[in-house]
Amino acid sequence: MLRITVLVSGGGTNLQAIIDAIAAGDIHNASIVRVISNNPNAYALTRAQNAGIEAVCISPKSFPDREQFHKALLQAIDEADTDLVVLAGCMVVLPAELISSYRGRIINIHPALIPSFCGKGFYGLHVHEAVLERGVRVTGATVHFVDEGTDTGPIILQKAVDVHDDDTPETLQRRVMEEAEWKIMPQAIDLIAQGRVRIEDGRTRIDQ
Ligand code: GRF
Repeated sequence: MLRITVLVSGGGTNLQAIIDAIAAGDIHNASIVRVISNNPNAYALTRAQNAGIEAVCISPKSFPDREQFHKALLQAIDEADTDLVVLAGCMVVLPAELISSYRGRIINIHPALIPSFCGKGFYGLHVHEAVLERGVRVTGATVHFVDEGTDTGPIILQKAVDVHDDDTPETLQRRVMEEAEWKIMPQAIDLIAQGRVRIEDGRTRIDQ
């Protein structure tokens, strides 16, 4: 059984997609053991509670400095006996110690087709604004492993989504979530839970 800790900061629709996929049997052999938010008001915490999952808030504001906050975050992940850390709309820059302790065991969802529209400053609606400004016809989402860089880790799954002429950043964000994010995040977790994802020379390989 793959023990998953999900880190969130906001609405938690990706968290909900994972909860639903586990309940539906689309993700096999995995369970969410803890949800951690840096933001006490994140609706994702309510979603976790509604699903009977332990939900905790670890806010940087409750600690004297960044170091103490990082320590508490790492401890909360360790204590849950976590196999896989899933970043689902997590706005916290992860401490280096967490990345190195869980190398190859942290995944993130990015709302564009990496390496386009990613890196510093590309988060939330900014991503979709940049997509519309550039006028690309296709965007999408990417699930990738997390390393020390911003959106630079090995890519696990990607899914393309059409951009429409009359899109606003908001309508595009919604379509990317519905058509890509909520599908490939559960799929990636299922592949990992089945032991089918390997990292080789900085790239992933998915065993058939
Ligand atoms: C998603 O767009 C995800 O790609 C990005 O943050 C957003 C989180 O949304 N990393 P939600 O909290 O899962 O609804």
